[in-house]
Amino acid sequence: MKTYDKFLDYYEEVVRWINSPLEDEVEFLKEDCIREYNSEAKTILEVACGTWSVAKEFIKAGYEVTGLDINENMLKKAEALLNPPLTPPSNHGGGKKVELILWDMTNFDLWKTFDVVLCNYNSICHLLTWQEWQDFFAMAHKHLNKNGILIFDINTLFEFESITRDFAQFYTFGDDVVCLEMFKKPSHFEWLIKIFSHKKVPHPNPLPEGEGNNLYELITEVVKENSFPISKIEKELKATWFKLLEKVDYHYGQVSAESERVYFISKKS
Ligand SMILES: C[S@@+](CC[C@H](N)C(=O)[O-])C[C@H]1O[C@@H](n2cnc3c(N)ncnc32)[C@H](O)[C@@H]1O
Repeated sequence: MKTYDKFLDYYEEVVRWINSPLEDEVEFLKEDCIREYNSEAKTILEVACGTWSVAKEFIKAGYEVTGLDINENMLKKAEALLNPPLTPPSNHGGGKKVELILWDMTNFDLWKTFDVVLCNYNSICHLLTWQEWQDFFAMAHKHLNKNGILIFDINTLFEFESITRDFAQFYTFGDDVVCLEMFKKPSHFEWLIKIFSHKKVPHPNPLPEGEGNNLYELITEVVKENSFPISKIEKELKATWFKLLEKVDYHYGQVSAESERVYFISKKS
């Protein structure tokens, strides 16, 4: 069982609530990252693409998108969302089917290169060791065209530390409740996701007034994440033949010690 398998039915809405509305995120990626730094871009490799919410918007905008993710169930959900399959509009040289690939982002070989490698919604933070982050940078570099750009975002260490201090977050889905808490472990952080799933079965010993007669099944899932200092990431990008074009605080623009979510936009050099 892979990360997010149990949480899959709730994933989409919770992730967008926690982060930012999808439309804003896509607008930022399209205008402030891709058109600004690689206006000629036509092909995108979305790494850790999940259920394809972001990719779908890029396809609609005429890009040719390939998606890669380690979780088969995420990709199945993406496929279902793509039914009927989306194809890029023909005026963008499209007509090609979109491709979904099951692979690990730290070690893959697609035998082709792209104008943009995108890894967003802090997906890189699912890689727990620095070696895996370095491996991902190497994979991105290998799969970019000359002057292609790598766009990824992180949840900062400051953000993870703050979340661990915060109270639990609760989300209601009809009769189900999802509770998210984060804990700090010696070498990483862990989301503890508790899903209180309402069971549509009568309680074996119902109370007379019908109070408290709901049965809930508790489903738990642990999602591990990690982050590294911004300066360390910057140094590594430069060391691995990327030119850092911009780092930007997604919420406030200027990156500071208290930034929660930071995007890095780099060019293959
Ligand atoms: C926070 S989700 C983001 C998904 C997507 N970018 C979005 O916007 O919804 C993180 C994704 O990373 C994927 N993932 C985690 N580790 C991975 C790995 N080693 N290789 C590829 N994908 C991975 C998970 O399966 C999940 O779909």
